[in-house]
Amino acid sequence: QGLRVYDPAYMNTAVVQSKITYINGLEGILRYRGYPIEQLVQKSSFLETAYLLIYGELPTEMQYADWQSEVSQHTFVHTDIEGLLKSFRYDSHPMSMLTAGFAALGAFAPEANPSLRGQKLFTAAASGDMDSLKVLDKQILRILGKAPTLAAAAYRMRQGRPFNRPAQGLSYTGNFLHLLDTLGDAATPYAPHPVLEHALDALFVIHADHEVNCSTATVLQVGSSLVDPYSVVAAGCAALYGPSHGGASESAIRMLMEIGSPANVPAFMRDVEARKRVLVGFGHRVYKNVDPRSTAIRHLADAVFAVTGRNALLDTALELARYAGESAFMRARNLYPNVDFYSGLIYQAMGFPLDFYPVLFAVPRCVGWLAHWRQQMLAPGGVKIWRPRQLYVGSGEREYVEVGARA
Ligand code: CMC
Repeated sequence: QGLRVYDPAYMNTAVVQSKITYINGLEGILRYRGYPIEQLVQKSSFLETAYLLIYGELPTEMQYADWQSEVSQHTFVHTDIEGLLKSFRYDSHPMSMLTAGFAALGAFAPEANPSLRGQKLFTAAASGDMDSLKVLDKQILRILGKAPTLAAAAYRMRQGRPFNRPAQGLSYTGNFLHLLDTLGDAATPYAPHPVLEHALDALFVIHADHEVNCSTATVLQVGSSLVDPYSVVAAGCAALYGPSHGGASESAIRMLMEIGSPANVPAFMRDVEARKRVLVGFGHRVYKNVDPRSTAIRHLADAVFAVTGRNALLDTALELARYAGESAFMRARNLYPNVDFYSGLIYQAMGFPLDFYPVLFAVPRCVGWLAHWRQQMLAPGGVKIWRPRQLYVGSGEREYVEVGARA
């Protein structure tokens, strides 16, 4: 059997060498390709950060212009994909629709299909064949361009409204807001509110990557089989859908609604300390200090509330954060607000329905997934399939018993 290290939930296992994102959980540091998240939130934009994460360097002016134009040229989806999304029940969870949409997109990109040319494509790209690399990168453009279109289609299905056509000449998040909400017409073309567009863009920068989190580990696991990137991203979506990962911002708002008012915070915290409840939006596998993303989001929240009006749950949230900060239980376990504690308050103020919050996480996280997937595909020495081992603790050999003779 050989020597095996038992490491449930990968608490202590490093599975990749990566140049993409650096996290120091003890000091609360997060950097993309060396750049502090705080600087990127303030000075960069989502698409520029996407380029940085995927290709390793900030783009030159010309590279950035080309990149923006190429992404916006890949925003349309085939009408059969629209037909697929329309076939869902009106009350389907948008994450189910998004996951299915990405998986289906793979059928429309035969050049990346593993049963045809895909495997050779990745191998050739890794050994420096520029044509293959171009085809590989084209899949990235398609996924990034189409992610908001699929997400918005899932949103509008819930409302029984027709899908909007992607718009040209808007930012990534501006186009997303257009796809979500307003039809617009020639006389009054749609213009997203600049403060809300900027806030969503900054939230997208914050959510773009977070090294080998649950969904990115899933992406790498699935990618290691050399399947196409559409299936890889669909697998990432499935992992992100879970309440311990991308579903936490939705759960945090539900929890705040249940608490109801600042006066009820002490009783709720007593339940947390008695381990009857989990304080959603607190704690993190890596951060044992303040999550720097939550600090950046807290500042954005004020700008958004100045436009939308103050979220009625904010007072309860602030009281909860204050109480949790003073709780010996929380301090002993290094439990601080994470990215999901404040993001839901912003989404709610902007009018997004609760079950759309994981989608607002998944769309920008496609960038991180694809950056890690590209790094994996192009790794020198090729891709080794991921195959963890187990410690078997079941029965020893047993004799089969016929059904009528079983106790
Ligand atoms: N509320 C109350 N107690 C907690 C919490 C919490 N939110 N998080 C951890 N603990 C306790 C836990 O019970 C354990 O106590 P003890 O040592 O006495 O048994 C201790 O703290 C260590 O927790 P853990 O479960 O070993 O920590 P983990 O690294 O396995 O879990 C986590 C990380 C994020 C799943 C967890 O903190 C949690 O469930 N938080 C609430 C859900 C949430 O906000 N998730 C979003 C994470 S950030 C965004 C993302 O990555 O998607």
